Amino acid sequence: MNRLALTPHVSYCGVNDRTTPLFEGLWPLPKGVTYNSYVVAGSEAVALIDGCEAGYTPEYIDNVKAILGERTPDYLVINHMEPDHSGAIPRILAEWPAIKVVGNSKTLDMVRGFYRVVPDSVEVKENDTISLGDVTLRFIMTPMAHWPETMMTLLEEEAVLFSGDVFGCFGALDGAIVDSDMADARRFFPEMERYYACIVAKYGTFVLKAYDKLAKFNIQTLCSTHGPVWRSLRDEVGGLWLRMAKFEANPGVVIVYGSMYGNTAALAEALAARLVEEGVREIRIHNLSTSPLSDVLADVMRFKGLAIASPTYNTEIFPPVATLAQALLGRGIKDRALAVMGSFTWGGQAVRKLRALFEGSGFALLDPSPEMKQALLADKEAELSATAHALAEAIK
Ligand code: FEO
Repeated sequence: MNRLALTPHVSYCGVNDRTTPLFEGLWPLPKGVTYNSYVVAGSEAVALIDGCEAGYTPEYIDNVKAILGERTPDYLVINHMEPDHSGAIPRILAEWPAIKVVGNSKTLDMVRGFYRVVPDSVEVKENDTISLGDVTLRFIMTPMAHWPETMMTLLEEEAVLFSGDVFGCFGALDGAIVDSDMADARRFFPEMERYYACIVAKYGTFVLKAYDKLAKFNIQTLCSTHGPVWRSLRDEVGGLWLRMAKFEANPGVVIVYGSMYGNTAALAEALAARLVEEGVREIRIHNLSTSPLSDVLADVMRFKGLAIASPTYNTEIFPPVATLAQALLGRGIKDRALAVMGSFTWGGQAVRKLRALFEGSGFALLDPSPEMKQALLADKEAELSATAHALAEAIK
């Protein structure tokens, strides 16, 4: 078996991307990312499972050819149409003109929409199968995890699940592909949390529906579209995704602030000190002018408590804080305790507007909401201590 062979019938043909700075044009990739793809070679037919980002198609095609030798693929199964995987479709069709694209009705509609091609295709529905001879592919529809067309493919005889983005993470692979070939593949977990927070968080309900469908299968290997293939740690990875989909979190507090001149920063630091006095042992502080939004979102997914501090800027919420609020509310994050604080120079608006934004959301708003004029003075001590106490109690 070469190093790309994962099971007797499955090989890895994916690629590393250590060049793209921002995933989706938004999310930093300091450790890179993979576009995972797989070859399933049965006795009678060969299927490719997903493609890659368009620019990596030559490498992808070389990988497939190196695995298959004289054989050619009969099917291209598209579990997910986001272009980091589907970008390769036009060149795959050009390379192997007889290949049949396998997807559901939404997949095939998107193939036409994105790439203006109408390939030979096989439209599949829930529980349909395709035989490759001695092995069988079964299709499991998982809509909105995290796009409408998303589905998963099970290689029944080897209990391998090709799960699309689900169970994926940021981070390129350093040689080894399978978790059991790494000293500790858990090092990918923080990037899994950041990936989930940025890309999937809004769709946790649909991830849970996918879990319900997968429960009856005794899956041994998780082949997602990003990051390692999970075998020895598959249960831990499944548990981590389940926990995130349910918005479960640890008893800690994330303090996020925007600050022009350091006064709101001082308020945030003072709250942290009081939280320590309250016995809170997990505290993360982010200055939104320097912390990437994705790091903040990942921490909000990890911890039960959140404090947001904003100055008033042109009678509004400080712009980076407003962006964070939009990101939090847009993801439908719930079961979190939220304290709001702020500062102003001549007219306070940020605290009132932040509270109005989060009213009725999945964030339970705590009292009080200290708002200081200009610098932090002793007259805010009692209110700040009360806010820390409320947060500490809420996350117990
Ligand atoms: Fe990796 Fe949703 O694409």
